Amino acid sequence: MNLFDVYPIYTIEPVRAQGSYVWDTEGNKYLDLYGGHAVISIGHAHPHYVAKLTDQLNKIGFYSNSVKISLQEELAQKLGELSGYENYSLFLCNSGAEANENALKLASFHNGRKKVIAFSKAFHGRTAGAVAITDNKTIIAPVNATDHVQFLPFNDEAALEQAMNEEICAVIIEGIQGVGGVNVASESFLQKARQLCDTYGAVLILDSVQCGYGRSGKFFSHQYAGIDPDLITTAKGMGNGFPIGGVLIHPKFKAVHGMLGTTFGGNHLACAAGIAVLDVIKEENLMANAKQTGAYLSEQLKSLPGVKEVRGRGLMIGIELEEPADTLRKKLLFEHHIFTGASGKYTIRLLPSLALKQEDADLFLESFGKIVSAKTLV
Ligand SMILES: Cc1ncc(COP(=O)(O)O)c(C=O)c1O
Repeated sequence: MNLFDVYPIYTIEPVRAQGSYVWDTEGNKYLDLYGGHAVISIGHAHPHYVAKLTDQLNKIGFYSNSVKISLQEELAQKLGELSGYENYSLFLCNSGAEANENALKLASFHNGRKKVIAFSKAFHGRTAGAVAITDNKTIIAPVNATDHVQFLPFNDEAALEQAMNEEICAVIIEGIQGVGGVNVASESFLQKARQLCDTYGAVLILDSVQCGYGRSGKFFSHQYAGIDPDLITTAKGMGNGFPIGGVLIHPKFKAVHGMLGTTFGGNHLACAAGIAVLDVIKEENLMANAKQTGAYLSEQLKSLPGVKEVRGRGLMIGIELEEPADTLRKKLLFEHHIFTGASGKYTIRLLPSLALKQEDADLFLESFGKIVSAKTLV
């Protein structure tokens, strides 16, 4: 059987990883500034994470949501404490798309409406509801197309004000757009969205799947704006590689048995991974590190030739180049052994572990500087 060929891939195969580094089949070492797409939050193979998962696997790996699973409660308690959302509830699922799908359902159950406002360049996942609120026609199959969704320009307060009315079920915003190019939702835009949702009885959903879990330097990037969303979705960094997602739910939502559900969501292994991640973020002060190392990297990058703009917060960084990013990324990977991500044609996206050290940042800056300076001399 062949694999269904939907991913354009690099031929490099990482087979071992530690901290911010991975090694390929030939033993070559790579600096990982991509974090497996914002997933590796506390670093590869962190000893506490490995111990927690191994220990849990030796006890019990899975049982269904028809029984008490204390690990879910421990995870919720620790997440509430570290994120500052202690009075919210947690629904556990398996991925970012699923988290958004459940958030949409909760919003719609709550106010009985179905129209959703999403934004230009938004990415919310590939399941039916999540892809319908994603601004990319090429991945919306006819079966997923709907006229319930209205796309507005990102960060446009006037457009949002004009579009809001009592038929709107939910407004969904990425605190920092990832796939769309590392665009930060402005503080006043988020505050305006909060105010308009309150006025019209709509549900404000903050998709924090990519920008959450400490990546921005705060637990959730919207906390820079001082707003509290009604629903917050999370995944990626939540499990440091183990599939887990969640919805943080404001106390005004009433849970009813059977309204949401999943077979695998909140299983023992996923919870053990999620707890280990929260332990390490707290113990090692990784939010502060993301803020500091991210600010350092961003500042240094701004002065390099060929860099048009540096966007983002903490360790979610978009480097917009004057020329297409592909050649530079390939040079970084194949000549300097550094993994990076991309957003569109011109933007390099950095999503490293939150434990990235300044010396690793310097290694990247040196390699980046060498490539772009050599280019300008030609
Ligand atoms: C902001 C955002 N939301 C949702 C998703 C979907 O997450 P998943 O791939 O885990 O379904 C992604 C994935 O990249 C994302 O960046």
